[in-house]
Amino acid sequence: YMLKEIMEQPDAVSRTIEPWIKEGRADLSEVLSRDEVKNLSRFYIVACGSSYHVGVVAKYNLEKLARIPVEVVLASEFRYCNPIIDKNTLVVCISQSGETADTLEAVREAKSLGALTLAIVNVEGSSIARESDRVILTKAGPEIAVATTKAYSTQLAVTVLLALYAADCCGTLEKTEYDAVLNELLAVPDKMKQILSDKENIQRIAYQHFDNEDIFFIGRNIDYALSLEGSLKLKEISYIHSEAYAAGELKHGTISLVVKDTLVIAVASYGLLVDKTLSNAKEVQARGGHIMGITTESLRERVAAVTDEILTIPDTHEVLLASLAVLPLQLFAYYIALYRGC
Ligand code: F6R
Repeated sequence: YMLKEIMEQPDAVSRTIEPWIKEGRADLSEVLSRDEVKNLSRFYIVACGSSYHVGVVAKYNLEKLARIPVEVVLASEFRYCNPIIDKNTLVVCISQSGETADTLEAVREAKSLGALTLAIVNVEGSSIARESDRVILTKAGPEIAVATTKAYSTQLAVTVLLALYAADCCGTLEKTEYDAVLNELLAVPDKMKQILSDKENIQRIAYQHFDNEDIFFIGRNIDYALSLEGSLKLKEISYIHSEAYAAGELKHGTISLVVKDTLVIAVASYGLLVDKTLSNAKEVQARGGHIMGITTESLRERVAAVTDEILTIPDTHEVLLASLAVLPLQLFAYYIALYRGC
């Protein structure tokens, strides 16, 4: 089921975004009025596990496009963090199942504090969908595998729609930039197909690494957000010990865990920060670690010069990098687990 669901992602993303694109714009006005969005003082994004990781990517994208502050909080922490909420706060709860107890409690807490709540859920009529003020359904279809893949991708696509819509309402984005993001969102399904058609290459690389006992992921900004998901997916299904770090944090202690041949996956897809991440990759190499780079086609040469092996994704706007780069990470985790007999 996991492989089947990984392969279904292009269709799942198309189905999810299609109802919300009207006359060349991301239009969520059926769910949130333009005035409601204009008056927003802040977003909270609340979720667990991989759905929380979607929130970490979404924070970068929402703040970048709409210039509204975003707090991302683990649902299990939300109730106890005394959140600063008023009627102009939108609490976005993300959940595939719509039944995760901590996320449901967060919806209740947010409502009791007077916030407007928006659920991004995959299961129509689920508890979180019923109890939230507003709902956007992801159209991933039933997710049977325990490790989420297509739900993650559809949730991520909805958060990009939300960022575009908020930017449109608030007038924070030039038309050319708006069009560039929207066009790249529409191109995601085809670019995903391109990555999936190369899955044998990822399988081959996974075969070389399935007997590792520790695998680290590093990245900066959205690449860091993506590292969290890559690491969770890997440990969840392969039982390999794995950690994800903001690349700049390595030198503050964790680097001591890198010894000869430790595999470190450097997610370096974001052009603006690629050299920064590569400088951290060099620190790993200095300790004898083995670096796998994940980057875009146009950055291939720069990243290949520093890494021991490389996986690439098609070029896209930075807001959509996570939507593409998560696929090789899912496939890598899947094949490693398969080779380990998990
Ligand atoms: C990881 C995974 C979990 C879920 C988490 C939240 O592969 O599937 O981390 O993302 O349990 O579940 P939902 O999204 O149903 O609230």
